[in-house]
Amino acid sequence: MMDDGGRERADNDSSKKIRDVARAKELAGKRAAEFVEDGMTVGLGTGSTAYWVIQSLASRVSQGLRLRGLPTSEQTAQLARKVGIPLVTFADVHSLDLDIDGADEMDDHLQLIKGGGGALMREKLVAVAARKFIVVVDSSKRVSVLGKFPLPVEVVPFAWQTTARRVEHCGCRPHLREQDGTPFVTDNGNYVLDCFCGDIADPMGLHQQLKLLPGVVETGLFVNMATEAVVSDGIKVEVLLPQ
Ligand code: A5P
Repeated sequence: MMDDGGRERADNDSSKKIRDVARAKELAGKRAAEFVEDGMTVGLGTGSTAYWVIQSLASRVSQGLRLRGLPTSEQTAQLARKVGIPLVTFADVHSLDLDIDGADEMDDHLQLIKGGGGALMREKLVAVAARKFIVVVDSSKRVSVLGKFPLPVEVVPFAWQTTARRVEHCGCRPHLREQDGTPFVTDNGNYVLDCFCGDIADPMGLHQQLKLLPGVVETGLFVNMATEAVVSDGIKVEVLLPQ
């Protein structure tokens, strides 16, 4: 049994860890924003790390940086409008100079699991339209093999139960994402299955298998897409290339 002193030390350790992760997200986000140059059109990611990218860009915009942002979610669009970043849509542009976005897991080849916030489909559409895709993460997201974080798979609501059964046949255990007791609905009006697939030895193979299923709109596997990663442990920041 843990004594009071032990419990206090454990509580301190865990709150320090949380502080470190928060600090790491901030450092990584601010460093990644430095890749943005005057006149660029930039994909704006979703999540608590992308938040710092957007805040840094907003402060540079207020000092005269010319920038057009393409948001990967309604949440990001709202934040960007609030902090004064001019926005465009795919009606205005076909390609982007750069996309900067977070991830839920990243391996040494910069293969990713994304979609913890449910924005995977727009995040992927923006990432593939960008000439460079920088993933920005705290070091806790680094793994040797993807799969501990449940893989988000966006599915159409119609017949989602049979789609989930098909996902099971691909070797994954799907779980319908819920929010306040009802299914979580994406910006595209779809549902998300959080899938426990074990170690994902072949991310592209699994992505292709899932993507072929009727009812699956997109998977959170971002394979061979990130061109660079900005990673922080809360003290230092590293820029990594795919190995
Ligand atoms: C949003 O759908 C996700 O892909 C996020 O990019 C991812 O969950 C990372 O989020 P945090 O930066 O908040 O950890």
